[in-house]
Amino acid sequence: MTADKASLRRAFEQQFGRPAELISEAPGRVNLIGEHTDYNGGFVLPAAIDRTVAVALARREDFLLRAYSLDHEQCDEFQVERVRRFMGTRGGWRDYVRGVCWALQDAHIPVAGADIAISGDVPPGAGLSSSAATELAVAGALTRGLGIAPRDLALIAQKAENLFVGVQCGIMDQFASALGVDGHALFIDCRSLEVEAVPLPDGVAIVIVDSGLRRRLGETAYNKRHAECSEAASHLGVESLRDADVEVLPRLEGDLQKRARHVVTENARVLQTVSALKAGNPKGVGRLMHESHRSLRDDFEASVPELDLLVDLAASCDGVIGARLTGAGFGGCTVSLVSQEAVQHFAEQIAGDYERKTGLTPEICVCRAVDGLRVSDA
Ligand code: GLA
Repeated sequence: MTADKASLRRAFEQQFGRPAELISEAPGRVNLIGEHTDYNGGFVLPAAIDRTVAVALARREDFLLRAYSLDHEQCDEFQVERVRRFMGTRGGWRDYVRGVCWALQDAHIPVAGADIAISGDVPPGAGLSSSAATELAVAGALTRGLGIAPRDLALIAQKAENLFVGVQCGIMDQFASALGVDGHALFIDCRSLEVEAVPLPDGVAIVIVDSGLRRRLGETAYNKRHAECSEAASHLGVESLRDADVEVLPRLEGDLQKRARHVVTENARVLQTVSALKAGNPKGVGRLMHESHRSLRDDFEASVPELDLLVDLAASCDGVIGARLTGAGFGGCTVSLVSQEAVQHFAEQIAGDYERKTGLTPEICVCRAVDGLRVSDA
């Protein structure tokens, strides 16, 4: 896997026998807090990270789209105006190319034929939004020069994911990948779609620990939680759980009450985290991250024992500000905020302890918050 532009250019030429014209790069994302709140009209605080999907493109005179994935060593080929026929099929990485191609046309944006090559270093299935990064990189490449704002491309990418791929995701991943700001997290109101860049503290690293467990139950569990939240909102007579508060929770029972309690309290935690960051209060941020994890574990039931273990191990390391599971859950990664000078020791300690206790080797990725979608000449 690589997002290295020189290798991508070379691979493009080998595959298509001519040079690429442009390169479009879109980052993966990590969510600092605000989990399973986006599709409830709530608040999230992700950051785009320095792990990227890159797409090289050269236009064609006809309406054929040929795509080549370096990472899968696989090709795809279709007529752009006939892409709808793939809706609901399962094509792995191809779904994101086809889905974006469909969603652009559905939004009345003209898509011409093109040759494209794709590669990236966002690990797939780890909860770092490799799919959103692929969608945005493809959308950025196919629409260069048309003057479409990145936030509109993000909405089109989300539509591709919801209607073409069939995952009921919210807007967080696509917005983070499109609109990320170097050194900042993005505070997103997923109802009004307002975005504010919030500076991250100096001297603090974002450390992502991949549990090595790919999402158990995958999209099924995600769509189930989505449905439970809608059911809870309709029992409460509100448009979405964004409009609920803790006082009304006793009107719900069992699992629905737990799911709603997570969403209501998580929205409050995002607002408090933004205030704590602005006030230069990292301790406060850490406490809120831990509370978020507990709520995802006990109320939303989106954690697994391995993620709980990683969070506990992180809490016992020096220099750790906070830790929690990140992304959809049911496997995937944790995110920890760690003082720069403690990162090395943190990584060694976590890797050793986790491996001893589970027999699994965690991937550890020390990240920076970076800018979102970038399109340039090849
Ligand atoms: C996935 C989805 C996002 C969001 C998170 C959970 O990453 O794609 O839209 O719902 O899960 O916070």
